[in-house]
Amino acid sequence: MATPRDLPVVLTGDRTTGPLHLGHYVGSLKSRLALQDSHRQFLLLADAQALTDNADDPGRIARHVIEVALDYLAVGIDPGKSVVCVQSRLPALAELTVLYMNYVTVSRLERNPTVKQEIVQRGFQRDIPAGFLCYPVAQAADITAFKAELVPVGEDQLPMIEQSNEIVRRINRLAGRNVLPEARALVSSTGRLPGIDGQSKMSKSAGNAIPLSASPDEIRSAVRAMFTDPGHLRASDPGRVEGHVVFTYLDAFDESPGEVEELKAHYRRGGLGDVVLKGRLDARLQVLLGPIRERRAELARRPDFVMDVVRSGTERAAAVTQETLDEVRDALGVFGFGRA
Ligand code: TRP
Repeated sequence: MATPRDLPVVLTGDRTTGPLHLGHYVGSLKSRLALQDSHRQFLLLADAQALTDNADDPGRIARHVIEVALDYLAVGIDPGKSVVCVQSRLPALAELTVLYMNYVTVSRLERNPTVKQEIVQRGFQRDIPAGFLCYPVAQAADITAFKAELVPVGEDQLPMIEQSNEIVRRINRLAGRNVLPEARALVSSTGRLPGIDGQSKMSKSAGNAIPLSASPDEIRSAVRAMFTDPGHLRASDPGRVEGHVVFTYLDAFDESPGEVEELKAHYRRGGLGDVVLKGRLDARLQVLLGPIRERRAELARRPDFVMDVVRSGTERAAAVTQETLDEVRDALGVFGFGRA
């Protein structure tokens, strides 16, 4: 079998709110490509979680399930190695969530720093959807249902892993044995990629993202619009490298870090124009994204194939997660027909 049971389990997910972008590539897709060779990897199309803060637009969330799956396959996620599955089609996740809800207090959820920050960002104020407040519990269900040991995520997701491990300890203590493993976060070493405006992390909603499916023109104009050093008016002026988005991207994507260091020194001294840097970055991004875009377009012409990948991945995941749910119920002594 492509994903033998004895390999360590990795799980990650993406909310299906929009197409994936370069920030996802740097932050997690790249490490998933490496992990799929050495781990039993599950990728969750987190449409149920996407609904927790997009409840009024279920159609958009549903449409992006396949779009995100296309992004995965286009970057090189291999369905023979990684299991791609749809969160909302895995009933065991919902059942585990309901069970775990009893082992988490409302005040603990309100203290979750990521949830707190997102409540402000989304402008929920006092009208917080209950599903949103509880999404860390649902995420604990995701993580534990697959018995994930490793969860590659961005730094903002660390509180979710912590929360999940608290629930795991609670369940294991109650069961009197380790039914569930604790998970470890794998935070990407590159850190998060800023948006082209340099203001915040790259995100579709902030309008500062370069999608993986960007056309050559879109890449070019995004690079042209990148935030540089506002004090660097003429090429001959000395410039600041810190906060210069083009340099940040060159650090993330350029294949010759030594040359990038030389360019930084030159920029600081003065005599190096932004146009030169932008040209170099544009060329690099065209080379990186060209094949991804082409492969994506090819796959988009085979919707049945993509749907089959997602359907069979979801079936596999349904079996795995149902097995965990049964084990947890048994271990806690929850009622079951024909069970002790
Ligand atoms: N919360 C994650 C995000 O916003 C998505 C996600 C859902 C996830 N379930 C998960 C990540 C389980 C890791 C593990 O990006």
